[in-house]
Amino acid sequence: MTLLALETSCDETSAAVVRDGIVLSNVVSSQIKLHEEYGGVVPELAAREHLKNLLPVARAALREAGVSASALEAVAATQGPGLAIALLVGFKAAQAAAFALNKPFIGINHHEAHLYSPWIQRATGASPSPLGRHGSELPSPASGLRPDVRGAPVPSAPHLLTAAFSNFQPNVSLIVSGGHTLLVHVRAELNHCVLGGTIDDAAGECFDKTGKLMGLPYPAGPIIDRLAVQGNPDACDFPRPLLRDANDDFSFSGLKTSVRYFIRDHPDWLEDSQKIRDLCASVQAAIVEVLVKKTIRAAQREGVRCVTASGGVTCNSGLRRELARACQGRGFTLRLADPGLCTDNAAMIGILAERKLLAGVPLSPLNEEVKPGWALA
Ligand code: KG4
Ligand code: ZN
Repeated sequence: MTLLALETSCDETSAAVVRDGIVLSNVVSSQIKLHEEYGGVVPELAAREHLKNLLPVARAALREAGVSASALEAVAATQGPGLAIALLVGFKAAQAAAFALNKPFIGINHHEAHLYSPWIQRATGASPSPLGRHGSELPSPASGLRPDVRGAPVPSAPHLLTAAFSNFQPNVSLIVSGGHTLLVHVRAELNHCVLGGTIDDAAGECFDKTGKLMGLPYPAGPIIDRLAVQGNPDACDFPRPLLRDANDDFSFSGLKTSVRYFIRDHPDWLEDSQKIRDLCASVQAAIVEVLVKKTIRAAQREGVRCVTASGGVTCNSGLRRELARACQGRGFTLRLADPGLCTDNAAMIGILAERKLLAGVPLSPLNEEVKPGWALA
């Protein structure tokens, strides 16, 4: 089945063409620079930017896939959760396309799509992904190349991304992004149950807000990750919220408050480049320890042998390393989303949409509305 998927739930405009489990193209236009000066995503600006970028991004996805609109057999889009006016842009455009092409349409839960992104694999030997969010731009129409994070053009090779569902194993899946922190038991394909989530700030929000307290630009997560490499994670003893609680919920606002008080009491730390690194390493260690221990505990309790992770914070090198270490020690299989698919992208929307259509899940009506608060059940 050849399918076009659109994703506009937050601040990435993305379109992907998927065929028979293969990602033929996955174009992502990030608005990160636009929102940087406001220290967070401004919904109105995000929606205007989606309106401006959606058609060029969708055309680029079709061109890169070598697929004409008339060859599409279905259209999908993120229906929720997300920012209402941002979701509307991609969702209504996808419904209009399905109507014009007279093809099936399906609305997808963004978090459910995240559950399957770790199963989208890069073929061995393929070049690493030109990271989706932090610097990826529209491919140049002439060259089909796009700049990578350092600005150097690298060939886009998304066709080497394939959904590896033949290897599917029941798993516990961690979704960690700027807006969400969720632990989900995925019992089988298209069959899951939410175990827990954050009761206040998300993990990415905690990185971004504590980084802001340190004077780092938005989003601070990737910068904290970089600075933490040369820092001492034991320099400050920050709390590990809800670590000892038996439930699978998370809470990060208390950690943020501890960092606030620490900085208030030790303002000199922000004047010293090594101490900033130590602060970053300590904050990261606290967040990572909670995420890893609670994920592993849930996996053991649910009796699964596989752990997966996706969402922007899954780019964090400390989280990747500690999850790998914890899983290795227990003989668990670990599947981390490809760095290019950790942040928001239409490839994961398309892969899940195709699975659902093949499984006979009911189509979405063309007059259906977006669901900004659509919680994963
Ligand atoms: O999945 P995503 O695009 O979600 C939202 O739009 O909410 O992820 C963005 C989040 C931001 O909070 C960002 O700081 C965080 O992911 N992030 C990281 C890293 N890369 C992105 N956090 C820690 N370390 C990183 N390397
Ligand atoms: Zn997401």
